[in-house]
Amino acid sequence: MADKTAKNSNLRNANKAKNDEFYTQFHDIEKEINAYLDYDQNTFRGKTILLPCDDPEWSNFTKFFAQNFERLGLKKLISTSFAPDSKAFKGGYQPTLFESENPQFDKEKTVTNGKIFTLTHDKSGDNKIDINDLEWTYLKGDGDFRSDEIKKLRNEADIIVTNPPFSLFREFLAWIVEAEKQFLIIGNMNAITYKEVFPLIKNDKMWTGSRFNQRLNGKNMTFYVPDDYKLTGTEVEVSSDGKKMISVAGTGWYTNLDHGRRHQPLPLMTMADNIKFSKHKQVKGQEYLKYDNYNAIEVPFTDAIPSDYKGAMGVPISFLNKYNPEQFEILNALNRYSLFDDDDLIINKNEARIGNHMCSINNGAGYTYFRIIIKHRN
Ligand SMILES: C[S@@+](CC[C@H](N)C(=O)[O-])C[C@H]1O[C@@H](n2cnc3c(N)ncnc32)[C@H](O)[C@@H]1O
Repeated sequence: MADKTAKNSNLRNANKAKNDEFYTQFHDIEKEINAYLDYDQNTFRGKTILLPCDDPEWSNFTKFFAQNFERLGLKKLISTSFAPDSKAFKGGYQPTLFESENPQFDKEKTVTNGKIFTLTHDKSGDNKIDINDLEWTYLKGDGDFRSDEIKKLRNEADIIVTNPPFSLFREFLAWIVEAEKQFLIIGNMNAITYKEVFPLIKNDKMWTGSRFNQRLNGKNMTFYVPDDYKLTGTEVEVSSDGKKMISVAGTGWYTNLDHGRRHQPLPLMTMADNIKFSKHKQVKGQEYLKYDNYNAIEVPFTDAIPSDYKGAMGVPISFLNKYNPEQFEILNALNRYSLFDDDDLIINKNEARIGNHMCSINNGAGYTYFRIIIKHRN
């Protein structure tokens, strides 16, 4: 039995580690960055950008920021990688020709150490700063973002941009937040429900980026995976140039950089009009129910938020992509429990909480998924 448990947990870890090796497409990075530039063309001007957890020889993050160094007005670009020997997913590692043909190449360090690439000035003498001016060396350690070596780079940086390892998302976010840095990172929508993450969202210290949980041309955000990655499931494909790819539902960007979509008000109908005209059968001709144990109405769809309801409302997490902090205030989050205990909207706060499912409606006849509690600002 113990053996079986160990086996299962090995399998789980291997699966998790596999998900750490998803690589971001160039046009996804470009499109996202453009959204911040559209809002403020100086978002990145004079800034030091750190790209940790990267693979700078071929990563599209390093490529994009190096190619756009001058356009963005960067001060410095730093990109670091994680040593192949330290990666949990053991794919067949081969150093790139770029590395193996370089005089610095070290056949030990290529597997045991991370690498650091930096860009600050025109090295090649062609009067422009671009990808040809990147300088690199091996790191002293393996490039783990938690190491002192990478923490020092974090402290030097103004903005941290990456697609961090999926299995370490909470830790990675905490690592950014403790240093109070600006950031733009890829993550899964489920992270919203983590108790470490939601308070940041509630306090407007983090929000969803321009693309979040959104299908474009009918497709979720799609990533490259290692060549020896076994593709299963329906959301997998091979790109036109033969690279393996995977589409991941509910994925998108988290950030604390401002962008335009965040300030667009969500167009809404009154409660009466929703009940009369809503396209959702759960809303049309129905009434908005209150939770049994929490003083808010249940709103099952973001586009069914009534424009004229003054009290608290529970909405699905997909609301966050439409959240405009001038229009709404976020109060709490509910599932079985209330994320914040001192909330006056909890009914019978002093009673033993066990059994008082926070998302129960109709005297326990139904339970909704995780809900974000919001109210109109005016
Ligand atoms: C999701 S991939 C993204 C890579 C790249 N940023 C991109 O988007 O193309 C995450 C990378 O972080 C690496 N990684 C895993 N654990 C790490 C750690 N503790 N410190 C630094 N990097 C780590 C993985 O090996 C992988 O290369």
